This record gives sequence, C-alpha cells and structure tokens, in this order.
Amino acid sequence: MLATINHAFGTPRRHFRLADSTNEQARELAIAGAPSGMVVTAGEQTAGRGRRGRQWSAPAGKALLASAILSPLGAEHVLLPLAVPLAVCDAVESLAPLECRIKWPNDVWSDERKLAGVLIEAQPPSWAVIGIGLNVSIAPDEFPTDLRHPAASVGHGVGTEDALDAVCEQLDEWVGAEHERVLAEFEKRDALRGREVRWTGAGGVTEAGAGVAQGIDDRGNLVVLSSEGERLSLGSGEVQLISVGSVE
Ligand code: BTN
Repeated sequence: MLATINHAFGTPRRHFRLADSTNEQARELAIAGAPSGMVVTAGEQTAGRGRRGRQWSAPAGKALLASAILSPLGAEHVLLPLAVPLAVCDAVESLAPLECRIKWPNDVWSDERKLAGVLIEAQPPSWAVIGIGLNVSIAPDEFPTDLRHPAASVGHGVGTEDALDAVCEQLDEWVGAEHERVLAEFEKRDALRGREVRWTGAGGVTEAGAGVAQGIDDRGNLVVLSSEGERLSLGSGEVQLISVGSVE
C-alpha cells in the first residue's frame, strides 16, 4: 500500500496552561477546519479523557498532554491505532535509555509499567484527533494508587517540550506508514504475545472469554487462542482486556 503525504506534526501549535481536554480542544478545531498536523498541548487538564470513558489525570507540567489533528482520514490510516504507539515508543527511546513495548491496542509500556496512553477520536473521513498522554517526570508517589496497571515516567531529566518534539517527529514517520511496516514493527513490540489474557465483550457480539494472545492480524485485531481451542480475532471496539497474565 502507498504511503500517504508526509505531515509536519506540531505546526501550528496551540498551548494551554490549563485546558479541559486537549482532545476536546483539538476536536473543536478540527471541526472548524484546522489544518492537518496542528497540535494542541496543555500543561494541565481538568477533564482529560482516557479510553472507555475513563478519566486521565496528570500533575501539572509533568506529562506530555498533546492532541494532533489528522485530516482527512483515509483508508491508508486504518492501522493508525497501532502506528501511534509505535511513534511514541520510538520517541521515548530517542530520549532515554528505555525499551518500550505495546500492550494492544495502544498502551505504551516500559518494564511492565504504563508510560503512555493513546486516545484517538475520529470523524471519518474528515478528521481524527490523536490524543497522547505520556508520563514524562511524574514521581512514583504522584501516581494515583487505584490505577489499573502500574505506571512509570520517562525520567532521565527529559522535559515535556523534548517529548513533544520527539513525538511529533515520530508521528511524521509513522502516521501513514506502509501497513506491512506497521504490522512488522508492532509484532516486535507486542507485549501480549504468548500471554494469557481475559476479556469482556463491550456491548458487541463478542462474548467474554480467556485465552492466549497470538499476535495481531492484518487489520490490527488481537488474535487469541481461546481456552476452548478456538482462534479468535478481537477488535478493540468489541472487547476490553480485563487482565494480562505472565509470559507463557
Ligand atoms: C488511555 O486511556 O490510556 C488513553 C489516555 C489518553 C490521554 C491523553 S492526554 C492528552 C489527550 N487529551 C485527552 O483528554 N486525552 C488524551
């Protein structure tokens, strides 16, 4: 498949010291016709959004809170949910001596701890807002105690502006990258392969179940071998992973 036009993510940029949600601000800008590549950042959010209606919070100035506009949204972006965490992994590894992996569909982990989350909100074919929350310098005791997964920061003296520059550079590299490249790189960074997972249906046809993760199919679905011996492809809109076990 052909690569799409090269973006220059990060230009223009609008920064808020305090915003409700950078995704919300970027969404409004996208609807108003803001250019592709524009990025909205905030030092702090009062209503940061996470996946599945969860809240996303971070202490002021210690996380990269950024939302990039991609417009229009074409068939070449079908793997965007995998391409964005790949960009975040490469950005983090360019800044600090860390090794990143991805917990499907798009959590970035280092050392079994969550470094970053991605929330993509889209109105195809017009636009997508790529929201990235990357923990940059949050101290271990500053994370909420009730997190679903343990969290960590990039650390190593990295600042949020360095993180933004690196992430924008890598979004240029990965958004619209060839599908084969995205799938091959995701496979290398797949944190779930060979691990036991349990999932719950999210209102769709797929029922709750358990099995062992086998990788990703060419549409970005998680392939699992269920405990009943059935090979299933789980879509991120249909299922929610509720637990991840140890490596087999
Ligand atoms: C997740 O649940 O893991 C995704 C979290 C995404 C959070 C980021 S912070 C910047 C952007 N603005 C939001 O309101 N959410 C995303």
